[in-house]
This record gives sequence, C-alpha cells and structure tokens, in this order.
Amino acid sequence: MTPKISVSHLIDIDPLTPADITTILDRAAFFKQALATKTVPQSLTGKVILTLFAENSTRTRNSFEMAVLRLGGSLINWDENISSAKKGESFSDTVRYLGGYQPDAIVMRHHEYNAPHFVAQLVECPVINAGDASREHPTQALLDAFTIREIKGRIEGLAVAIVGDLSHSRVAGSNVALLTKMGAKIHLIGPKDLLPQQVRDGVSVFEKLEDGLKGCDVVMMLRIQKERMDLSAIPNETAYFHEYGLTLEKLAFAKPDAIVMHPGPMNRGVEIADEVADDPTRSMIFKQGANGVPVRMAVLDLLLA
Ligand code: NCD
Repeated sequence: MTPKISVSHLIDIDPLTPADITTILDRAAFFKQALATKTVPQSLTGKVILTLFAENSTRTRNSFEMAVLRLGGSLINWDENISSAKKGESFSDTVRYLGGYQPDAIVMRHHEYNAPHFVAQLVECPVINAGDASREHPTQALLDAFTIREIKGRIEGLAVAIVGDLSHSRVAGSNVALLTKMGAKIHLIGPKDLLPQQVRDGVSVFEKLEDGLKGCDVVMMLRIQKERMDLSAIPNETAYFHEYGLTLEKLAFAKPDAIVMHPGPMNRGVEIADEVADDPTRSMIFKQGANGVPVRMAVLDLLLA
C-alpha cells in the first residue's frame, strides 16, 4: 500500500508532522533505489503537471520536471517571460484560466510572499511551493534533510550551522522549521544585518563564523540574495569572504567529520572557497543537488496518489 501524508498541498513546512516528514524521506529513499535499478513505478501515468515559474530557477525546476517524467507523468510549463503577463494580464486571471484546464498538480515559484496559498484557493489540485519570496522553499528543506539523514544516519541530536544571508533566505526559513521539528539544533551564523529578528526554540545565533561552527555536524552555506536587498546593504564581497567565506581552515572549527552543503547557486569566492566546494570527502553539495529528483518524486507521488 502507498504511504500517505496528512496535507493536500505542500506550501509550508509547519503543517507537516514529523511522521509526514519521515514518510516523505522514506519514500524518497525508495525512489532513489528505484531510479538506480530502473524499476520506478509509473505512478503519474496519465497525469499532467503544470509548472508555473515567475522567477529564475535551474535546480528546482529541472529536478521537478525530471521527477514528473521519471514517474511517467506529463508536463506543461507556464513561463512568465513568454506569457501574457507581458501583455498586462493579472497573475490571478492567468491562474484562473490555467486552473480551468484541470492540471493534476501545480508546481510554482513566485516572488510574492504567500503566492502559493493564493493560488491554492483558485484551483482544485495540489499546489507545491517551489519557493515564494524569501518565505519558504519546502522541497529544498526536504532534500537537505534527506541528504543529512543519508550521510549521518539521523537528524535528531545533530547540530546544523546555516551561514550567510539568513534574513532573505527561504531555504533557511524552511530548513530551520524542518530540522528543529526533527530534533536538530540550529546555529544561525551571519553579519548582524542579515540575521533574523526572532528565532524559534532550538536555534542559536552567532555573528562570528568560528564561534558558530564549533560542535557542528553539518555546515550549510547560503548565497547573498542580492536581488532581495537594498543595494546599500550588500556587503563588500572580499570583506564578506574574509569573515564568512568557508575555507578548509574555517571548516576545522566544526566537528572533524562535519559535512558541507549548499542549495546552489554557489557564488564561489564569496560564501565558499573552491577547496571546500570541491572537497571530495567534506562537500556533499552535488550529491545534495542530485537528491532533488527522488525527493521531488516522493512529494509528487504522495500528493497525487
Ligand atoms: C535557492 C532558491 O532559489 O531559493 N536555490 C535553490 O532553489 N536551489 C537559493 C538561492 O537562490 O540562493
């Protein structure tokens, strides 16, 4: 019997129970194995998934499309840059027309806060959030958790550092929600101006990289989200790298077996040195990226089953 989760959309992490998260990660492990042995059940046969991307994307969009096709589903894509949005149509009207075509699910990324909640009210199918503004990016947090569990064998009891532009990162928002729910401790590390104003239980805040890395099992690096900031708030890249850029020397402050992650896109030489990004034993960055496919397959399969 196919396992079930308690939600009908995936828009935020908070409504997921720890049991839901475990179900998704277990299902992703199943799909990872099925991909390796070319025995993927074609659970999306006859289903048509609409992708709706109003913001740039490489990994998220392509891994979602790969996931749909691997499960035997079909895709149609709406792309803001070549759409009637350029002729003045409102986003709400666009969604009402596209919803009228009765897609089996919508995967969407949008620059407006809560846009997926708005869309979910206008359509009848599951909505999967592929990132809204600086708020949430739940499938990124799920694939990060999957990667941590795969390498460390567990999430509970680990200390995870998240470093960089925390106030503008939807990846950080979803990761903090998910990892604390699953019993990890979080160290948020960054310049004062890029740290969140409030944090939840299980989260500590550090301004100095070396202090925050102490005792960490996992180090997640983040990009400076220039497109979401007042230009004057952007730190000088050389000074930023000096203080927050992850080098092997800085990584030595974390546990000796600490792994390094990054959601991508990486800005090498700004938040991360080549020697760390390409380190064959410490960097899990490209493995993490590849896990986007089985994790997104699990989400699609569970929401559409
Ligand atoms: C992130 C995003 O778009 O939120 N990338 C991703 O989905 N892998 C992070 C970023 O843009 O820095």
